[in-house]
Amino acid sequence: YPPERIRNFSIIAHVDHGKSTLADRLLELTGTIKKGHGQPQYLDKLQVERERGITVKAQTATMFYNYKLDGLKAEEGHETQAFLLNLVDTPGHVDFSYEVSRSLAACQGVLLVVDAAQGVQAQTVANFYLAFESGLTIIPVINKIDQPTADPERVKAQLMSMFDLDPSDALLTSAKTGQGLEQVLPAVIQRIAPPPGKSNSPLRMLLLDSYYDEYKGVICHVAVVDGTVRKGDKISSAGTGHSYELLDVGVMHPELTPTGVLLTGQVGYIVSGMRSTKEARIGDTLYHSRNTVEPLPGFKPAKHMVFSGLYPADGSDFEVLNHAIERLTCNDASVSISKESSTALGLGFRCGFLGLLHMDVFHQRLEQEYGAHVISTVPTVPYIFEYSDGSKLEVQNPALLPSNPKSRVTVCWEPTVIATIIIPSEYVGSVITLCSERRGQQLEYSFIDSQRVFMKYRLPLREIVVDFYNELKSLTSGYASFDYEDADYQQSDLVKLDVLLNGQTVDAMATIVHTLKAQRVGRELVEKLKKFIDRYVI
Ligand code: GTP
Repeated sequence: YPPERIRNFSIIAHVDHGKSTLADRLLELTGTIKKGHGQPQYLDKLQVERERGITVKAQTATMFYNYKLDGLKAEEGHETQAFLLNLVDTPGHVDFSYEVSRSLAACQGVLLVVDAAQGVQAQTVANFYLAFESGLTIIPVINKIDQPTADPERVKAQLMSMFDLDPSDALLTSAKTGQGLEQVLPAVIQRIAPPPGKSNSPLRMLLLDSYYDEYKGVICHVAVVDGTVRKGDKISSAGTGHSYELLDVGVMHPELTPTGVLLTGQVGYIVSGMRSTKEARIGDTLYHSRNTVEPLPGFKPAKHMVFSGLYPADGSDFEVLNHAIERLTCNDASVSISKESSTALGLGFRCGFLGLLHMDVFHQRLEQEYGAHVISTVPTVPYIFEYSDGSKLEVQNPALLPSNPKSRVTVCWEPTVIATIIIPSEYVGSVITLCSERRGQQLEYSFIDSQRVFMKYRLPLREIVVDFYNELKSLTSGYASFDYEDADYQQSDLVKLDVLLNGQTVDAMATIVHTLKAQRVGRELVEKLKKFIDRYVI
């Protein structure tokens, strides 16, 4: 397949708008998977993903499609031309926005799926901007038109007013009934450009994702940007400087299918004898060891924004937890792990996550897939404390901050996020109250249409890590959609809150809070403890 007959695209959507179902239908339509293969949503493979209906780990598939050429008659025998279509899947949540942006870097276009009844939601906005800023062709797909409450015209108007997308470009589909699906792949071929790489240039491959396979070892998903790669080639990583010999090369069809070669513009997998996924850095550039190349733009290491301590629920189970964490991090190199010990909880781990969902998913997988019962401490964010002598301390575990630090600390900094909130207009008052209670600063407020309001807030990350989303959902009867991206650090008036039990500090309960909230948070905590702990007199 020359690049002119390759298309690399991705599907992006707000949670539940039908991304995985649509992907499945496209795989069926091209015969990549059998109809009714019994495992719904082929691309969502993890158990927790299926349970929660979210895509956490990107999966990618290659499809072969015979495109009917316009103007040529069937009896001439030339009515179709074979195209190779790579569906590059992206994680469904902004915690993974870096992975999303790397996946998008391998694409020239996206299908932006929007639910015909729910319309534009917070992650539609976030995903749209990721694709738009990467300069991709955006094909709007209004899905679920079979629903009785579907209102595609309203959604078209929203797409126009929010993103300037031409209503006549929108495809109307139902991934459930199959209605309108026949237009999707022809639109991909007609509207999305072929990959622009140079076949004659030295090899440059973008590393999209990696996972650990018990039999084959580390498997990397890659996009060949320039040049050609073959089994047996010696390659190097621009990020780590390590070199490898390629033991296997192929495409995901959708199972691993060896081809021995990947040409310019193709997306596929490589097996290179890497020992751990930690060596496979997402966004890294891989090239032939004999050449020197300019690395592809955009590589950056994972940034951990939410930390929590994990301890075995039963003190003796430390080894079980240790083993489970080791196995799990084999497949998720984006979690940072270090051992820590607490006087209250014993030996455990401090784990750093990309965001809230990432943390939840990790906890769930520990319990469900590895049977490890864990106690997790209240999530915390990385604060920076600046001392009078100019030195700075990043605190990921509040227990490690010396008590009463104010004596020497001159400035405290805390991470913030920019949050996008979309709600029906009748809930505006209560949501504004919630955001100001959480120390939010309103940045934008507008109507998407007569019934829905779009708001942007800068909020301290600390204020959304505990219960913000649940509260937002309950205030709005479940109608709010919410998304956030990391923003700068801001100066803040912070103190350490210690909890003493019977005169002893409990390290695992230490938190860092805003001075104005310290009293209230402290009282609430102590009142809760009073309910659970019997009075104990020595
Ligand atoms: P994430 O993986 O979290 O991003 O969700 P998703 O966007 O992949 O949504 P998914 O495909 O899991 O679909 C969510 C729900 O909507 C499922 O229960 C689907 O069966 C249903 N669904 C998907 N497409 C349609 C459709 O066209 N019509 C109707 N009525 N339901 C649909």
